[in-house]
Amino acid sequence: MTFVVTDNCIKCKYTDCVEVCPVDCFYEGPNFLVIHPDECIDCALCEPECPAQAIFSEDEVPDGMQNFVELNAELAEVWTNITERKDPLPDAAEWDGKKDKLQHLER
Ligand code: SF4
Ligand code: F3S
Repeated sequence: MTFVVTDNCIKCKYTDCVEVCPVDCFYEGPNFLVIHPDECIDCALCEPECPAQAIFSEDEVPDGMQNFVELNAELAEVWTNITERKDPLPDAAEWDGKKDKLQHLER
């Protein structure tokens, strides 16, 4: 089992999640973070920390966001490990809660 970062992280990237992860399994792209499914120990600490409520257990990913399970696995292999919180993206408050942000994902 793993936890998964989903749509509402895109263009927000608050990074509060990385502070609490005991195994440092978050990976960072230009405007999104992902969790490495082989490294996540399923501790659930990150889920309540995300101001955008973008993190779900693999078995609780909302309908229509199942594609993020595979996307996390794919991008965690190529993106850079992030272990410390940083400032959110400049327009995070504006983008928080917008729907269907996958079209804005930068790789
Ligand atoms: Fe890290 Fe735990 Fe979140 Fe997995 S569930 S990403 S181990 S904080
Ligand atoms: Fe993204 Fe939430 Fe972490 S917005 S960077 S999953 S705190």
